[in-house]
Amino acid sequence: MRASTAATSTKLQPPRVVFKNITKNFRSKNGDIYTALGGVDLEVPAGKFVAIVGPSGCGKSTLLRILSGLDRPSSGEVMINDQRVAGVMPQIVGFLQQQDTLLPWKTVFENVALGLRFRKFPAEEIKSRVEDWLRKVNLYRFRNHYPAQLSGGMRRRVAIAQTLILDPPLLLMDEPFSSLDAQTRYMMEMDLLSLAGSGERTIIFVTHDLEEAASMADTVVVLAAGPHSRVKAIVDVDIERPRDLLAIRSDPRFGQITRFLWDQLYEEVNKSYGK
Ligand SMILES: Nc1ncnc2c1ncn2[C@@H]1O[C@H](COP(=O)(O)OP(=O)(O)OP(=O)(O)O)[C@@H](O)[C@H]1O
Ligand SMILES: [Mg+2]
Repeated sequence: MRASTAATSTKLQPPRVVFKNITKNFRSKNGDIYTALGGVDLEVPAGKFVAIVGPSGCGKSTLLRILSGLDRPSSGEVMINDQRVAGVMPQIVGFLQQQDTLLPWKTVFENVALGLRFRKFPAEEIKSRVEDWLRKVNLYRFRNHYPAQLSGGMRRRVAIAQTLILDPPLLLMDEPFSSLDAQTRYMMEMDLLSLAGSGERTIIFVTHDLEEAASMADTVVVLAAGPHSRVKAIVDVDIERPRDLLAIRSDPRFGQITRFLWDQLYEEVNKSYGK
């Protein structure tokens, strides 16, 4: 009927992502060069859920920004399927950034509706989908509020809804749940876990919480402390799905995996503190 019909019915296949020897240099105000990423190689198979952990400042957000097309590597390349990333690809990539990117002049409803409007979905469908998501993130009552009238956790939930409503085939999430209260966080983790197991989307998720990483991901990647950060360890979470977020914590294999992750990370955190 209209372009919007195609937009609603076409479900793109989850892509494979390959980082090839990615480096990233930043120039400071006094002209010094800081090499944040020193050759990151990583492959994320189609439909898999990879969590990335690493000490603060090691380059996790930088890596996701490069994959999203918002930033460029200094050398190396990122491939989505066999296409080199050369700019943003909003039809394929949904990116929940670490910092707040809500539009302050738009209401909660309009912020969540942005991507659907951009894709020219019919107005009634936008209304029902946005309202569904606002109920899901418990913000329906606040649909006419502006971001400045919300708490940090509420704004984060708006951003989560804004990203997940589009159901992108490649979903990038940078510490999505860190500002949420424990109960909301648990509910959001359960929602994401149910999206994760189907293989219908490729998910790359940055977190500082090793238990969150190991309970949800197929693979956890540990990045080394910067400068010149690289992949330090890749740990497959060989625990079958569907998973139960509470029950998994008493699984002995889960204990071994999180312990191993902590040992890997601890060394890097110490390095980043200069110990
Ligand atoms: N635009 C920029 N200009 C200069 N330096 C930058 C810039 N962006 C990032 N950096 C530096 O690159 C390094 C990696 O930053 P990045 O934000 O990717 O870390 P991170 O692993 O996401 O940290 P956190 O866990 O605290 O979010 C840091 O040392 C940071 O200071
Ligand atoms: Mg970050």
